[in-house]
Amino acid sequence: MIKIENLTKYYGPVLAVDSVSFEVSKGEVVGFLGPNAAGKTTTMRVITCYLRPTSGTVSVAGYDIHNHPVEVRRRIGYLPENCPLYPEMNVVDYLNYIAKLRQVPAAERPRRVKEMIGITGLEDVLWKDIGELSKGFRQRVGLAQSMVHDPDILIFDEPTAGLDPNQIVEIRQLIREIGREKTIILSTHILPEVSATCDRVLIINDARLVASGTTDELVSRAKGADVVTAEIRGPEEEVYQALRKADFVDEFRKIKEGPEEDGAWLTLEIESTGDIREKLFRLVVEKNWSMRELKLEKMSLEEVFAKLTTS
Ligand SMILES: Nc1ncnc2c1ncn2[C@@H]1O[C@H](COP(=O)(O)OP(=O)(O)O)[C@@H](O)[C@H]1O
Ligand SMILES: [Mg+2]
Repeated sequence: MIKIENLTKYYGPVLAVDSVSFEVSKGEVVGFLGPNAAGKTTTMRVITCYLRPTSGTVSVAGYDIHNHPVEVRRRIGYLPENCPLYPEMNVVDYLNYIAKLRQVPAAERPRRVKEMIGITGLEDVLWKDIGELSKGFRQRVGLAQSMVHDPDILIFDEPTAGLDPNQIVEIRQLIREIGREKTIILSTHILPEVSATCDRVLIINDARLVASGTTDELVSRAKGADVVTAEIRGPEEEVYQALRKADFVDEFRKIKEGPEEDGAWLTLEIESTGDIREKLFRLVVEKNWSMRELKLEKMSLEEVFAKLTTS
């Protein structure tokens, strides 16, 4: 449905997007996740034909953004980062106006607008000026305007930014409902958003795509995805040496040293691929050390994200 190959965008000397490639299939809801200034908005503006890339190709439903921008725009609904709404217009007039702009035939406009109002739950504020609405309702108007021409693909740039927790839940719910019918790319810098709404995640950091997959895949694929916490008593240096030598250990660090009176207990965090508890236990027994805690912690998506987007 959307195919992006080696998309690169410079703003003057600033490299905002660096050789990004990905595809989105029909019906997918894909989260575009990354910290501020990662390049999310720039990528979305290129896909929606608001910005020309420095290099690379993008096609939407088989149409190239350079050669067929009108066809591309017809198939895409876009909720920009700061959706420009007209504060002095009421909701119905605004949606009619946008429907006209998007070339919805006059005879179909009332039906389309009514449908959008139903989907986004705007029935109670139809005649209010947009400027009077809460941020949550304004965002619903933003979603409604993006869909009024019935596009197959929706691009939502940080759809819940600036909303309060209740509004966030409502908008996510709405996006999930919309996602049953449409192909969606949504950007966010908050992680729970993608788990709550998306089938798949693309992580972008510092202009580059650093990971892609379902949240479960990302967690299990991340190197050192498992962390074992172990409390071991043994000669400190000897313990470290044995762990460095053990082929099942990727990395380890001391996070705590037991109180003196309690003997030399070391609390260690050991990273590995897969569950190493049994191997570690055998090592401790073989060396004649002691162990009193052994806990496996799966790395959360938060940690995977932090690992991929810092350094
Ligand atoms: N119009 C612009 N002119 C110059 N630099 C820009 C412009 N828009 C964005 N940038 C820069 O490009 C980078 C990516 O920005 P952006 O795509 O907005 O990231 P995100 O949406 O992930 O926060 C940032 O370093 C930002 O400062
Ligand atoms: Mg942005």
